[in-house]
Amino acid sequence: MKYTLERFTAEVRSVIAATGRVAPELIETATPKPNIPADLAFPVFRAAKALGLPPPQLANELAASITLAPDSLIGAVSAAGPFLNFSLHPQRLAEAVLAEIAQQGAAYGTHSDGTGQMIVVDYSAPNIAKRMHVGHIRSTIIGQSLVNIFRALGYTVVGDNHLGDWGKQFGVVLAAIELYGRPAVEGEAALEALEAQYARYAAAAKDQPDLDEAARHWSLRLEQGDPQARELWQWCVDLTMRAAQRNYDRLGVHIDHAYGESFYEHMLPGVIAEALDKGVAQREEGGAVVITDLEKLPTFLLQRSDGGTLYMTRDLATVLFRLDEFSPTRIIYVIGEPQALHLRQLFALTRAMGHAREIDLVHVAFGTVFDASGQPLSTRRGNMVYLESLLDEAVARALAVVEQKSPDLPAEEKQAVAEAVGVGAVVYNDLYQDTKRNITLDWDRMLATEGNSATYLQYSHARCGSILRRGAADGHDLAHVALLTHPSEVRLIKHLARLPDALREAGSRYAPFVIADWCYTTAREFGVFFEQCPVLKAEQVELRSARLALVAATARALKVGLGLLGIQAPERM
Ligand code: ARG
Repeated sequence: MKYTLERFTAEVRSVIAATGRVAPELIETATPKPNIPADLAFPVFRAAKALGLPPPQLANELAASITLAPDSLIGAVSAAGPFLNFSLHPQRLAEAVLAEIAQQGAAYGTHSDGTGQMIVVDYSAPNIAKRMHVGHIRSTIIGQSLVNIFRALGYTVVGDNHLGDWGKQFGVVLAAIELYGRPAVEGEAALEALEAQYARYAAAAKDQPDLDEAARHWSLRLEQGDPQARELWQWCVDLTMRAAQRNYDRLGVHIDHAYGESFYEHMLPGVIAEALDKGVAQREEGGAVVITDLEKLPTFLLQRSDGGTLYMTRDLATVLFRLDEFSPTRIIYVIGEPQALHLRQLFALTRAMGHAREIDLVHVAFGTVFDASGQPLSTRRGNMVYLESLLDEAVARALAVVEQKSPDLPAEEKQAVAEAVGVGAVVYNDLYQDTKRNITLDWDRMLATEGNSATYLQYSHARCGSILRRGAADGHDLAHVALLTHPSEVRLIKHLARLPDALREAGSRYAPFVIADWCYTTAREFGVFFEQCPVLKAEQVELRSARLALVAATARALKVGLGLLGIQAPERM
């Protein structure tokens, strides 16, 4: 199906073509400058040059010769210098857009651009026996939003949680459990205890060689599939995943697969051999397998001289597996900026080995997180923030906001709304600006009921709900929406019409913030409309019905936008 603005653009092109004066390939449209009262412009420079005419003359002649169909979405055509400007017909716009939103409902804005194409998204990827820190939080939130966006664009998307569940460090994890025991708690507390045991063991091993030896031994046992080592390791995996799952549930995150690094263990000899066979990697005298001089990238290892494998080796096996298993047209890695070089090396290596030549391998990088005082969060500094505690704190603070803003809600509902507001604030903080930028954990801004925050958007949505409930007795329908011609109504409707375009732009730029911006502008335009146009107290019943229809459309579309970001939109707040 084609959305209203797509049909408007197509109609503009076709009325220009119908004049018979401009060749179709010379018709290109542009967005007019903000001070121009039009919705689409045709800059005639190239067409005028082809005809040997001064551009303003051609623009004038075209304006005079264009004829519009009686039901045209174009309301007016005018020439302004070298531009031919087109405006939307406000009544037909209102009818078309509000009907579209009503019909499409939750599917409003979606496309089928990606039909038949598969995308793998690698995101979240916490490390076993550790808490999820801000890097994993960002990856989880950005990744889930990209999954939602690409699904809405019609792609088949599989998410894969590339768990850090393998590597030498597990020798220490297991040895420490043997020495100090299994923590008896659950959730983040259990993982915190495991981290502490790990640190304690590693410190003790510095001057106790037998501890070091024991860790190495556990690592070997694990690699060789020793049942006791596997059992202990599996216990760590399960404990970590139970904790992760609780957070995922709160965040509305669902990741299809969690193969994890360990899954690829048996493929590693094969991929190392392939890299050597193809001459991409070399075995050094000491036995290490290295890749040098690949696209001028710094040298890197695929195997250590002691035979051990690396994060890179497992990532290489992972790409090859994914290509085979899913036949994707694209693989998106949602990983922090510090791993940019690792991914450049991985992508170059994969291609040098003759794989994924036609496939987009994309790194969606994200910046660091700072605390409110401007310090980067870090374990070393001691100001690190972990996911479960972060969500708990957000919800506790949100409850205070809800108590204050919505004192009349029943207690149980207050709690549910606080959960939606707190979690929404955390999610939005990761998504409201370009993911490459750093973010700040500033609760006052994140939970502000005015300004660019999830809280403000959620309140705007709930406000629509409240108006609709109060107007429910009379109901509303689309019969009178042609009455919506007040400038603030027209602006709001035009903005609602832009969601389908915003979705495409968000996908092509890997940029959830485009959706966030769209939501924020929706809430602002709604605020202006609500201030300037009485809804329940509208002068006539028809106008009241039309305005209620606009409120309903705003609520629906805003809910769709928030949903793409992974943010809940409570009906009442
Ligand atoms: N577990 C890794 C970390 O915590 C992230 C893994 C990202 N995905 C990947 N395919 N390398 O840094």
